[in-house]
Amino acid sequence: MAEILEASKEAIERAASILKNGGLVAFPTETVYGLGASALNPKAVARVFEVKNRPSFDPFIVHIANSSNLEQLCSKVGSKADKLIEAFWPGPLTLVLPKSELIPDIVTAGNTSIAVRMPSHPIALELIRQSGLPIAAPSANPFSRLSPTTAAHVESQIGAKIDLIIDGGSCSIGVESTVIELGEEAVLLRPGGITIEELEAVIGPVRNSFSSTKPHSPGQLLHHYSPNTRLKIVENEKIIIPEGINAGLLSFRGNGNNSRFKKVEVLSESGDLYQAASNLFSALHRLDVSDLDIIYAESIPESGIGMAIMDRLKKAEHKF
Ligand code: TXA
Ligand code: MG
Repeated sequence: MAEILEASKEAIERAASILKNGGLVAFPTETVYGLGASALNPKAVARVFEVKNRPSFDPFIVHIANSSNLEQLCSKVGSKADKLIEAFWPGPLTLVLPKSELIPDIVTAGNTSIAVRMPSHPIALELIRQSGLPIAAPSANPFSRLSPTTAAHVESQIGAKIDLIIDGGSCSIGVESTVIELGEEAVLLRPGGITIEELEAVIGPVRNSFSSTKPHSPGQLLHHYSPNTRLKIVENEKIIIPEGINAGLLSFRGNGNNSRFKKVEVLSESGDLYQAASNLFSALHRLDVSDLDIIYAESIPESGIGMAIMDRLKKAEHKF
């Protein structure tokens, strides 16, 4: 079992030394917990693929603590990237740019592009600084399962297979970073913590490719972020629970007829989409261990960060 340490100076020092020696450390970021390995160590990165049971064609995000390090990882940065970095780093935005020779192919799954992000979480930043490494880190969950937003989520899903978990409490944003590719045009590959409206205010039009049927980014596989329990998106009033079925409800505001559900999780009573995002994966994890036959999820307004929430729910639903 992985050692779990409360975040502290000593814990971060220990984690940095594990990373330098090719080990795997789960750590908090403002979006979700990441499973980190040295991005310069192909063996360590191979172990992350193995622990996650992730297909080898699905590349990782490389995390840095100083935007000036981007030039070592990318062959070309460009003015749109500069503007986005100025506006949103450190924070929940991942840039996909042409890669340099520095990073081994296994990290980018053989792609000529590399995904890079500078997280804003102080523990993540300190860990990257202490290790002196670019850190490859996918979300710290098995492939296609619910993302972790607490150390306990990491422990229960992959704790047995990694070296250390740093417990830094709950992640404030709660959905993964927005992934944008900056080539000839700007293409949104995954909606996330920074909204498309915020991106467009800085760099103009962004093409939205995440909902297209042909995946452009490997992470656009349709059945991601899934609980073990069947999930269905539906309006509360339209739910008819069959006889003998234990149903749970993932409610946006909690203002419906909810007594017929065995377990109800409310994302935000005040209808605040940011609060809903930060509660999303924890609520799904709790519903998933409540011995339910089905989870009904109310749909969420698809504006702002609601787009990222609905993307995760649709992918959870699609699996079944
Ligand atoms: O918030 C986050 O981004 C978290 C934290 C830990 O930073 N990380 C995360 O990583 O969500 P992961 O591996 O679960 O998702 C990375 C996404 C995937 O959809 C992957 O396909 C895409 O980024 N990606 C990575 N490299 C890419 C590349 N070169 N081209 C296109 N998409 C890429
Ligand atoms: Mg993930």
